[in-house]
Amino acid sequence: MAALRLRSGNDRDPTASPVEIEPLPYTSVATPKSGDRPSPGSRSRQGSNNRRNQCYTVEAPRLTLEWRALQLEVTVQNAQTKAPEQKVILEQLSGVARPGELLVVMGPSGAGKSSLLDCISGRNTAIQGAATVNGAPWNKHLKRFAAYVMQEDLFHATLTVREHLALQARLRMSGSFTREQYLGRVDTLLEEFGLAKSKDTLIGGWMQRGISGGERKRLALATELLTNPSVLFADEPTSGLDSFMAKSVVQQLQRLAVREGRTVVTTIHQPSSEVFALFDRLELLADGATIYQGKAAEAMPYFASCGFQCPTFMNPADYFMEQIVVVDTDVGGAERVRSLKEAWKTNMTQRNEAIEVVNPQDIHSSSTSGNQVAMAASGGNMDDFEDPRASVYGQISVLATRNALRLLRDKTALRLQTIQTLVTTVLVGIIFFQLTLDQQGVSNFSGAFFYVVTEQVYGASMPAIMS
Ligand SMILES: Nc1ncnc2c1ncn2[C@@H]1O[C@H](COP(=O)(O)OP(=O)(O)OP(=O)(O)O)[C@@H](O)[C@H]1O
Ligand SMILES: [Mg+2]
Repeated sequence: MAALRLRSGNDRDPTASPVEIEPLPYTSVATPKSGDRPSPGSRSRQGSNNRRNQCYTVEAPRLTLEWRALQLEVTVQNAQTKAPEQKVILEQLSGVARPGELLVVMGPSGAGKSSLLDCISGRNTAIQGAATVNGAPWNKHLKRFAAYVMQEDLFHATLTVREHLALQARLRMSGSFTREQYLGRVDTLLEEFGLAKSKDTLIGGWMQRGISGGERKRLALATELLTNPSVLFADEPTSGLDSFMAKSVVQQLQRLAVREGRTVVTTIHQPSSEVFALFDRLELLADGATIYQGKAAEAMPYFASCGFQCPTFMNPADYFMEQIVVVDTDVGGAERVRSLKEAWKTNMTQRNEAIEVVNPQDIHSSSTSGNQVAMAASGGNMDDFEDPRASVYGQISVLATRNALRLLRDKTALRLQTIQTLVTTVLVGIIFFQLTLDQQGVSNFSGAFFYVVTEQVYGASMPAIMS
């Protein structure tokens, strides 16, 4: 098994000691021009002696996602006839997401963006067609290298931002990194995502005011980036952010793709023209079908060739969305979208290269050293990459710590649980008071034990089941 290495650059030596890597400040990430982009996985800048700024990440395989003739249908009940019928959510989608590229899925609300992410990330397997990773279907080993930032986030309201990240880092990294190293990574991310000033603020929830919506979005992304996953799916990571922060987040995603050689697929609503310029590839969806798929820079000429010339000073993203958003009463709009769908199908059949099919030989030939390792089409040997996650004991310890913190901070829950425990204790005590050690007493003991165990197990697991 290859040893897990701390990221130290192109000329890395697997046996080398940890290298301090100075992270680029989050708010001043320069967008590399396509011409001078470093090769995927190339080294980050080094040199800082500041422990806080150390950046430790794990070696990860390079994963190429491919989907062909992907069709997603669900059975729904007809409102009038009550008969079950098939609803097509995704219609014959094909595409590819490569390491080193930022693929952005855009489309109107309900177009199928989240559904597409679910299918190509292996979360939804009830699909027709194929969705593969390096030529193989998703499996639990491959999923270890993927991270998904959901459209709706889910946090423990009573933890602070830093506590949340530190506990997640302990869960995900403590198997291979020291406490100092993974906490260093937490501090780096707090700074990169502009969360340093809120690090001691409670996250909060619907009962308790906490960090802002934008900060929640950034925290969700930072959590998934702790280990620099090979593949990152981010569903609407910029929704609710101001334009500056939205740009910073996309720059962060692009940096992850381009500098770290990771595969990044994201959905984005209403990008500014500056943000649009950061996209490598674009998938435009309308009604579950592809309107355009390819290099983002080539989308404008493609639309122009279809008779939709984007005005000179207009944001291309706004223009594309205007063409594909249809309201129910807009008959002309529906016809326009239908013609754009047809145009793409015709374009696909005319130009085979529109969808750049990845074949297994290409994946093998791109195998190089370091974190540019690509895996075989069969799925590769995942054992080559060490698992940095905490041991079972470590996981139990993290969960116990988190639960204790949650209980101590949530005064209402703590009071209720104390009262509930006292009442239960008194009731059980009264019912099973002064048991005798005869046949009848033993049977009563067994009843008492059964009750206590059931109460403990269900009492502890119900909140998790309900959530
Ligand atoms: N399980 C399901 N049953 C019925 N309809 C579904 C199901 N899942 C998704 N849909 C429908 O499929 C369509 C696409 O949903 P999806 O969540 O992928 O849209 P979206 O592009 O992510 O939208 P938004 O931008 O609002 O998040 C919607 O019309 C949705 O109602
Ligand atoms: Mg969605």
